[in-house]
Amino acid sequence: MGIVGYVGHRNALPIVIEALKRLEYRGYDSSGCGIIHDGKLQIYKKTGKIVELERSLPEPNSCDGNVAIGHTRWATHGGPTEINSHPHADCTGTLAVVHNGIIDNYQLLKQRLEKLGHIFKSDTDTEVIAHLIEQYRKTTDNIEDAIREALKAIEGTYGLVVISEDDPDRLFCVRKGSPIIIGVSEKEMFVTSDVNAIVSHTSRVVYLQDHEMAVISKDGMNITTMDKTHVDPLISTVDWDISAIDKGEYKHFMLKEIFEQPTTIANGFRTRINEELCTARLGGLNLPMSELRKIKQIHLVACGTSYHAAMIGKYMIEDMARIPVYADIASEYRYRNPIIPDDTLVFVISQSGETADTLAALREVKAKGANVLGITNVVGSTIARETDGGTYIHAGSEIGVASTKAFTSQVTILTLLSILLARQRSLNPIQGYEYINELKKIPEKIEEILKKNDKIRKIAASIKDSTNALYLGRGINYPVALEGALKLKEISYIHAEGYPAAEVKHGPIALIDEHMPVVAIATHDALFEKVYTNLQEVKARGAKLIIITTKETPELREIAEHLICIPDTLSNLQPLLNVIPLQLLAYHVADLRNLDVDQPRNLAKSVTVD
Ligand code: F6R
Repeated sequence: MGIVGYVGHRNALPIVIEALKRLEYRGYDSSGCGIIHDGKLQIYKKTGKIVELERSLPEPNSCDGNVAIGHTRWATHGGPTEINSHPHADCTGTLAVVHNGIIDNYQLLKQRLEKLGHIFKSDTDTEVIAHLIEQYRKTTDNIEDAIREALKAIEGTYGLVVISEDDPDRLFCVRKGSPIIIGVSEKEMFVTSDVNAIVSHTSRVVYLQDHEMAVISKDGMNITTMDKTHVDPLISTVDWDISAIDKGEYKHFMLKEIFEQPTTIANGFRTRINEELCTARLGGLNLPMSELRKIKQIHLVACGTSYHAAMIGKYMIEDMARIPVYADIASEYRYRNPIIPDDTLVFVISQSGETADTLAALREVKAKGANVLGITNVVGSTIARETDGGTYIHAGSEIGVASTKAFTSQVTILTLLSILLARQRSLNPIQGYEYINELKKIPEKIEEILKKNDKIRKIAASIKDSTNALYLGRGINYPVALEGALKLKEISYIHAEGYPAAEVKHGPIALIDEHMPVVAIATHDALFEKVYTNLQEVKARGAKLIIITTKETPELREIAEHLICIPDTLSNLQPLLNVIPLQLLAYHVADLRNLDVDQPRNLAKSVTVD
């Protein structure tokens, strides 16, 4: 879901439409915009992609104006229909809102408002906000106060922008739990929920804090708290490379982002290695080395792909630093009343820094009085701001909905963390040097793997019509198998499961026949022989085996339909290499099935709802 708004001297709608296109990756079942044209509010909505909305707009001279808002929607309450798209207007059609978040008590509010005579058009929670403001407008002098009153009645989360004929030169922006960013420029102001939407116009931004309202006009902004205390805006500069939001020579963002990994991984470790002491430095953790030494337990909390990175972190940290680590799914962690003993280090891991479940887990940790650190990509995101410290992965903008480069960058940071913690404990300088040296070689080894792109596309062609696939790995490569399966299912819609290779014989082996591709990670580490035995078991049931390995041996050739041979490294770093062919395989399968790789159905780039 994405919000945009513009107030300035230029024609607003083309700017809003362009910004919405940049946000399409976040959620995209429908979109809409609202503009003040000749003093009147006009609203346009359309299901499907932003181009559909753009095509549906009337002639420019009948929808021009200098103040506008827009929204891309990912349905939560109410199906993906035109009526349910934002902006949502009040009964008079003179005021409208765009909203990210969830209004928890919307049913109660809706009932009350209906009793007062308000007529609702949509099934959304958002529409109650417009009617509530309309209701309070009857008893307050101005729209700003009406919004304040309305928000008092609302329980839930919101990033909200209000446009009104009553106050046609200004936009009203509020946040509680869902980001709102104001872009500042000469005689024009922007508002958005995601800085990607506006970086082509300005790099000067203000991150609105929870319970703040910004009233923006072409001449500037006024920020106040809900009790009307003035807040001085803190203008930050966004260091965002605009080329990152262009596909360049690539057919899809996902492919571009896969190919960027040699660079993004290097960006993650480049300034964070202490060559002299053969260790890592992660200054952002804001923890003295003496505190880090006391750590007795680590929790890594995340969702989806970021959770798979957390699982890899668990294997790495436990093996290298001998500290017990719990990797947890944020939506589970937040509700299971986690036990957080003293001397526990909690990390939340999130590419977007906005995932609702991860943010809620972070707040739960804080409620328990423990420190929580973040591993995030989006600078200034809510998670980055609410954590007590942490590390940016510096992967640059990730636009493809399926996370690729953020995953390997997260694993890179977790590798540095493992080295740092391990060097304080049992890892000697020579072993520390070996890890650092091998980490530095990862980018060039990934370049080697990327050269196999054509070969992997051919392999993808051989499985593109499958209905199921199984991904197998053991030890630290078990989470890699999970990640490979997630990539395939989310963009190709082929059902896929990741499994620990030895566990297959306890049930899933019953699924195997000649129609079931099995993608196996059999790189040459301490578990290779064990994995090989497991693969023989599935081969004996007729499985079509695609094997990722580091040495093409006759024994592997005998059982494999396809072998993908990649460079080797230390076994704890091997996931950084092993995941690359799996990303490419998923990409090509989806592309060969002519699917919308960057914007798969039902998904949103950042899941800002529970
Ligand atoms: C899968 C994917 C998702 C995200 C998950 C968490 O490719 O992208 O599973 O990893 O929604 O998102 P972040 O990392 O932004 O918290």
